[in-house]
Amino acid sequence: MSAAVTEPAGVFACRAEDVAVKSAVRVELGGYPVAVVRDSEGNLHAIGDTCSHAEISLSEGDVEGCTIECWAHGSSFDLNTGEPLTLPAYEPVPVFALTLEDGDVYVDVHQILNGAEAPDAEA
Ligand code: FES
Repeated sequence: MSAAVTEPAGVFACRAEDVAVKSAVRVELGGYPVAVVRDSEGNLHAIGDTCSHAEISLSEGDVEGCTIECWAHGSSFDLNTGEPLTLPAYEPVPVFALTLEDGDVYVDVHQILNGAEAPDAEA
């Protein structure tokens, strides 16, 4: 009997080592802009890269603790829940399932963990 081979969920996003502590990397997965973020504790997160307030890339913002701040108007988003902690944004950004395997980061953009709306695919 052969052992079942399990594939990581999602698609390859980046190498974990390419995401420094307190930084984010933008990737496009299946047409969706995704920010792979490493928080201050070194944990990785995958969230929708587009701010829920306007069309701004969150991966260009500052990471502090377990949050990322949108540079445009200062809304800060919780990386675990996707919820904005400060105005003007009031809608969450999606939090995607992330799997780490052999130093590779896989993200499943079809598995949204926080119930937020799916992001718009980019043309
Ligand atoms: S565009 Fe992000 S807070 Fe306004």
